[in-house]
Amino acid sequence: MAMLQLVIAFLLAIELAAGSRLLKSTSNPSICETIVQGYGYPCLQDTVTTEDGFVLGMQRIPHGINSNMDNSERDPVLLLHGLLQGAATFVMNTPSQSLAFILADQGYDVWLGNTRGSDASLGHISLSNQDKEFWNWSFEEHGKYDLLAMLQLIYNTTGSRSHFIGYSQGTTIGLVGLTQPKVTSLLSSVVLLNPVAFLKNITPPFTIALAHSYLEKLNDFLRLMMAGNNAYINRTRFPYYLQFLPQSTSTKNLALYTQMIRTGGFDWYDYGSPADNMKYYNQTTPPAIDFSTYPPNLPLLLVTGGEDGLADVPDVQRLLDSLVNCNVTHVFRSECGHADFVWGTNAHTDVYIDVANFLKSIPK
Ligand SMILES: *[C@@H]1O[C@H](CO)[C@@H](O)[C@H](O)[C@H]1NC(C)=O
Ligand SMILES: *[C@@H]1O[C@H](CO)[C@@H](O)[C@H](O)[C@H]1NC(C)=O
Ligand SMILES: *[C@@H]1O[C@H](CO)[C@@H](O)[C@H](O)[C@H]1NC(C)=O
Ligand SMILES: *[C@@H]1O[C@H](CO)[C@@H](O)[C@H](O)[C@H]1NC(C)=O
Ligand SMILES: *[C@@H]1O[C@H](CO)[C@@H](O)[C@H](O)[C@H]1NC(C)=O
Repeated sequence: MAMLQLVIAFLLAIELAAGSRLLKSTSNPSICETIVQGYGYPCLQDTVTTEDGFVLGMQRIPHGINSNMDNSERDPVLLLHGLLQGAATFVMNTPSQSLAFILADQGYDVWLGNTRGSDASLGHISLSNQDKEFWNWSFEEHGKYDLLAMLQLIYNTTGSRSHFIGYSQGTTIGLVGLTQPKVTSLLSSVVLLNPVAFLKNITPPFTIALAHSYLEKLNDFLRLMMAGNNAYINRTRFPYYLQFLPQSTSTKNLALYTQMIRTGGFDWYDYGSPADNMKYYNQTTPPAIDFSTYPPNLPLLLVTGGEDGLADVPDVQRLLDSLVNCNVTHVFRSECGHADFVWGTNAHTDVYIDVANFLKSIPK
């Protein structure tokens, strides 16, 4: 108990320190060269600039290993990684186990996003990533600006709206994006793997790992990623994963997570004083994310795990209850933990088959 109180005090300190860079990695941002092309897949790179000036790198696997860039129509799919990660998340296991390769081989045009602050997205039209102002954002800006820019680039390049698949923080970003009409107009479906909206019931080991990750300890980063029981992770691959992880985020982003843990809600960022909140929201406390604005017909798939210590069962239930007016399909995998969904050696049989069936069910 004393430990937990210490952690909560520590989390509050993080909230107060919001506004700088967290974790500096030095990995090569080009996963095309370091991973994708090595397996024989085509890989293209592009950049897109957000409305607030951030220059984001994207990678694209336009088709599978055994097909050419012919005229057949390929629906674009945007994959978005979790906290302290980059696009590598979806290509770090073998091609037959990794979501990006599997979807490319099934005939999709696979786009990989990298949120601002991650290795491939450290540019800005006027700020340097050494500036404090560069790191003045949270997952709310990922959802309002980064996601929009990625979807616009895909639309401009292919002429199609995208399927969106988010993992962990990628789902939180998607849930913020769904409040934005400009974003939803560019989506044809949404898949949320381990959706994170409420953190009321996350387990203490996870909270402690989150607090420690602020101290930039690599082992605690791994513990964070592994929240809950992850029976299907191949631990001999950890040294390989650590070539691509962890990647930077902002302390303001972690502050927003600690706000969620503290309040139990899924609210917009709390500027800290009634006067400042008034300035941004016309009320003294931050409003909750409004699920009622979500488009009712947009197909949503939530895949959740019974052993997930982060997108835990009661918090996911609360999200499902909040989405009653949406077109939701829910698949529950009782045996899966948080990391199993992307790095588990079982993910291609336990999770990605559901994803593929869902995508196939979407009317053109
Ligand atoms: C961060 O942005 C907020 C507005 O969103 C602004 O009030 C604040 O001064 C900014 N802080 C820094 C360090 O740029
Ligand atoms: C997409 O095209 C529109 C219209 O030509 C243009 O205004 C916009 O800047 C483009 N956006 C991206 C991200 O390519
Ligand atoms: C686990 O990882 C090691 C090292 O990459 C690899 O040799 C082995 O085949 C992997 N096992 C499974 C079940 O994927
Ligand atoms: C601010 O809130 C008050 C009271 O709820 C409302 O009357 C007013 O129209 C709001 N102002 C803006 C700019 O939304
Ligand atoms: C709901 O989503 C499913 C795909 O999961 C789709 O087939 C169906 O048309 C959608 N329903 C509505 C009312 O749009």
